Amino acid sequence: MPIKFDKENKIFTLTTKNTRYVFGIMDDRYLVHHFYGKKTAKYALYKPYCVSFSPYRGELGNTKSPDIFPQEYSFFGSGDFRAAALKLRGENGCCATDFTYKSHRISSVPKSGGAGAEIAGIPCGRPDENTRSLSVILTDETTMCELHLIYNVFYEEDVITRGIVLYNYGKAPVKIEKCMSASLDLPSCDYDMVTLWGGHYDERNYQRAPLHHGTQSVCSRRGASSPQYNPFFALCDKKATEDKGEVYGFNFIWSGSFLDEVEVDQTECTRVQIGLGEENFGYLLEPTKKGKPAKKDSSPFCSPHAVLTYSDRGFGKMTRNLHDFTRNHILPERAVSEPHPVVLNTWEACYFNIDEEKLVNFAGESAKVGFDMLVMDDGWFGARSGDRAGLGDWTPNKQKFKNGLGSFIEKVKSKGIRFGIWIEPEMVNPDSDLYRAHPDWALSVPGRQPLLSREQLVLDMANPEVIAYLKDSFKKTFGGLPIDYFKWDANRHICDAFSHALPPERQDEVHFRYMLGVYDLLRWFTVEFPSAQIETCSGGGGRYDLGMMAFGFQIWASDNTWPYSRTWMQRSALLAYPAATMSCHVSNPGDDLRALDFRYKVAVGGMLGYELNVLRMSEEIKKEMARQVKEYKTFEHLVRLGDYRNLASPFLCPYSAYYYTDKENKEFLLSVIEKEGIPAGRTKPLKIREAKPGKTYVDMLSGSRYSGKELKDGLVLPLTGEKFTAALMHLAEE
Ligand code: GLA
Repeated sequence: MPIKFDKENKIFTLTTKNTRYVFGIMDDRYLVHHFYGKKTAKYALYKPYCVSFSPYRGELGNTKSPDIFPQEYSFFGSGDFRAAALKLRGENGCCATDFTYKSHRISSVPKSGGAGAEIAGIPCGRPDENTRSLSVILTDETTMCELHLIYNVFYEEDVITRGIVLYNYGKAPVKIEKCMSASLDLPSCDYDMVTLWGGHYDERNYQRAPLHHGTQSVCSRRGASSPQYNPFFALCDKKATEDKGEVYGFNFIWSGSFLDEVEVDQTECTRVQIGLGEENFGYLLEPTKKGKPAKKDSSPFCSPHAVLTYSDRGFGKMTRNLHDFTRNHILPERAVSEPHPVVLNTWEACYFNIDEEKLVNFAGESAKVGFDMLVMDDGWFGARSGDRAGLGDWTPNKQKFKNGLGSFIEKVKSKGIRFGIWIEPEMVNPDSDLYRAHPDWALSVPGRQPLLSREQLVLDMANPEVIAYLKDSFKKTFGGLPIDYFKWDANRHICDAFSHALPPERQDEVHFRYMLGVYDLLRWFTVEFPSAQIETCSGGGGRYDLGMMAFGFQIWASDNTWPYSRTWMQRSALLAYPAATMSCHVSNPGDDLRALDFRYKVAVGGMLGYELNVLRMSEEIKKEMARQVKEYKTFEHLVRLGDYRNLASPFLCPYSAYYYTDKENKEFLLSVIEKEGIPAGRTKPLKIREAKPGKTYVDMLSGSRYSGKELKDGLVLPLTGEKFTAALMHLAEE
């Protein structure tokens, strides 16, 4: 049983294939965390002790201070001076709450707040027949609020997701001022913290630093999960490597502002928290009556879910847990079961300079090369001839598409290729009909000019009228058209976060409600255009998160398509997210076949596409691209579905080396990419551990044969030190 409750000792045990998570009820009141780690490891239950200056409840003795014992969840103002997971402001203005255990429920089919594809409009881990859910219910006497701590256990993937649901059964509204989806107290501080930081064009740099006393955090205040800090992070023991050591991986199923906070306290223990935080979050929770259907605005508050995993076999196992979880429980099923199309995207080839004639020619040439889909990027709508105008006006530009979209798409399709189109629904240019008609539909502070970013403003996705307008507008433009793919972009972040549709006391809800609006519209697209797939994007990989992955079939990984930069960006994305999510394009190689080869070998680490002017490419280049697309399709299944094994990280080595393997370990796709300007030399032995010693393997790309033993012991490959050098092998068991 993945979830057990020991009635006598009042201990909950959550088990997955390789991990165990244990907490208990102390004095019928507090939830105490005991252990999270390897399933077979011995662990001791927490023993209370006394520490000066740490408050305690007199009747329970002086050893049980909420400031000291490891908490399952933590509350502001009632004796725990460490970071609180929940801060509520009650009717009397006080923020001190004291939630205590009341009851719990274990269920196989998660109910309210449990795993579903969604909870209250927020994506969460999709359950399967093995998913089990635990709700622990706590109450606070003063506010009369009831808090449900939700744990969903994904046994096979070694993942537990956590979130909260809060009911206000009091008489007056309460204000949620801080909300974290999970809080976890670990009994040591001997960890390194791994985070991914960056910027536009420079997504997902890798940082590993020792924890220090005090608070360390990564967060986004931008209304998007952001390229600056990804919500994923890990804590690992100091010696942890790819294959060895203890690693805890954390993530958040959410695409907006977030806070990942880690605090090392006076007792050298570590508190880990993942959630919406407090700076860009607040929520007024209206009272509701027990057992009665909730009225508008009085339904419970549901948080997004945090993801927790543990590996005792280094980062590699953590990565594979997160990959399996994302493929099995987050990504739309089609995104996993179907090969992703190899697209030709028009952006880097044409920018805004597109029209019907040009793109029909693109379609014809693309079909000849063997691309599956033409994606018409920005520039097709409204008065869009640059980035200053048009966003918000989702009707085709009459000069560029004289016969309308329908006849254009028909012509594209008659060339034997599928069709995709770019949209940026959340944004508006001040120079647009939409803004002229509804300036108050943009987020803006009354009486002040809002700030521009990329010449655009952000629509108020917290306003249901805006969402309704967008649905209507997209329905009019796209309804009935055979569109196979939408590229959903979002090219700026939120400031001036004032919604003209919300009362003053709800302005703190803008970031949260904005994202609910985005998810609502995304969901509508999946229902309205069921055969189309959505690639999400935010100036590249600016919303590379599990929330977006729940709706989209892949994410445009970065606007930076320089293959050397892509080498490390892809490596760090793969730390937490499977290759099936990673859209990787070959951009213009000029006439240089070697550059084309290198760009291709880098891009096949994810879902391959091209982004170049196919009309200007030489016959030689087109012939080679045609060969590449064909070749890629012989191993695409390994990239999309396979286990990822990193052999050499470009952050630490002069080259990148990794392989994908199918779950039966019969095929391997081995990639070695030299970094720019390295000296000539040799790789370390690249060990394919799953190769079977008695078997022979053929490299399907070169015809060379290798014994399983050779592969297991490790291939040593030359590093030429020359520009644009990479090796690719598709090894299949004979
Ligand atoms: C963003 C995207 C690009 C392209 C442009 C269009 O930068 O990341 O791929 O779609 O917008 O304006």
